[in-house]
Amino acid sequence: QAQQKQKAESLSDLLEKAGESYCKHLRGAPKAIEYLKKRGVSGEVSKRFGLGYAPAGWHGLASVFPEYDSPQLEEAGLVIVSEEDSRRYDRFRDRLMFPIRNVKGECIGFGGRVFGDEKPKYLNSPETPVFHKGRELYGLFEARTALRDMGYALVTEGYMDVVALAQLGFANAVATLGTACTPEHVQKLFRFTEAVVFSFDGDGAGRRAARKALDAALPLATDTRSIKFLFLPSEHDPDTFIREFGTDAFARYVGDATPLSRFLIEAASEGCDLGQAEGRARMASNARPLWSLLPDGVLKRQLLSEIATLAQLNSQDLTDIWAQETARTA
Ligand code: UTP
Ligand code: MN
Ligand code: MN
Ligand code: MN
Ligand code: MN
Repeated sequence: QAQQKQKAESLSDLLEKAGESYCKHLRGAPKAIEYLKKRGVSGEVSKRFGLGYAPAGWHGLASVFPEYDSPQLEEAGLVIVSEEDSRRYDRFRDRLMFPIRNVKGECIGFGGRVFGDEKPKYLNSPETPVFHKGRELYGLFEARTALRDMGYALVTEGYMDVVALAQLGFANAVATLGTACTPEHVQKLFRFTEAVVFSFDGDGAGRRAARKALDAALPLATDTRSIKFLFLPSEHDPDTFIREFGTDAFARYVGDATPLSRFLIEAASEGCDLGQAEGRARMASNARPLWSLLPDGVLKRQLLSEIATLAQLNSQDLTDIWAQETARTA
C-alpha cells in the first residue's frame, strides 16, 4: 500500500516535469502560439491551464529525463515501447498539450491536440495507476474555487470548451475526457457543488452524451440537488458558441437549461405520439427504467404523478403496472 502510494507520487512527479517542459517549449513554438491566437485563447488562460507544446521529434523527453529508458516513463504513459523492436519513443509529438490534474492539483495525464486535421484529433494519456478517464474531470482542480463562488458546475465534452468558458466568465467549467459521463464523474462533482448543468455539443454525439449523463445523474438526483441540461444550437459547442455570441448569450442558455425532470419526460416521450393511447403507453414504458433510478424523495413522487398524468392514469395504476413489468423483466 505505502509502496504503491510512493510509486503513484513519483509517476505524477514525472508527469509534472514533462508538463513543465511542454510549457517551456510552447514559448519557443510560434506555430502553437499562432494556433492559440487563432482560437482566441489568451496568454492568461493558457497559463492558468498550463498549456504546452510537445515538440515534433521522437525523443523530445530524452532531454528532460536522463533516465529515458526507465519503465516508469512508460508506466506514466509518456513513452511508448515499440512491440517490434522494443525501441522507445515519445507518445506526444507535435501537439498542443493540456495537462490533466486530479483534485489535489497533481498532474495525472495529458490530452494533446494536433494542429491540423490529422487523426486522432486529441491523443490522451492511457489508463495508468494515476489516471482513470472514467473518474477524472478535466479542469476540476482549476475550477474548484469558482464552483464554490458560482454555486454550480458546467460539464462539457472538451478541453477547449473548458478553456474558452473560463476565459469568458465561466471558470466553473469542467469536461469529461472523451468518455461518456459516469456516475463516478457526477459523484465527484457533488463533492464540490450541489448544482450541475450539463452542456454538451449541439450535434448528435452531444445529444447522445446528454442521454448518458442523464443515466449517470439520475441515481444522484436527491431533492437538495439541481441537475440541468443545456442544449446548444446543433452546429455549436460551448467554445464556438460563447466566442461567437458572447458571455450574456451563454448565460441565457444556462438560465433556460432543461431540468432533469423535464429531460427525463422528453427522453421517455421521444418518438411517442401522446395523442394516441399507444404513444402514451410506450412513453410510460420508456419512463420506467429511468424513473426507477431516482433516489426516493419528493422529486421521485412528483415525477410519478407527472408521468401518470401524461399516460392518463392515476399514480396507483401506474405503480401497479410498473411493478408487474419489473417482475416480468427481472
Ligand atoms: P470534439 O470532437 O467535440 O472536439 O470532442 P472539441 O473538444 O470540440 O475539439 P476542438 O474544438 O476541435 O479542439 C470532444 C472531446 O472528446 C475527446 C476530447 O476530450 C475532446 O475535447 N476527444 C475527441 C478525444 O479524446 N479524441 C479525439 O480524437 C476526439
Ligand atoms: Mn488508482
Ligand atoms: Mn463533438
Ligand atoms: Mn470544439
Ligand atoms: Mn466539441
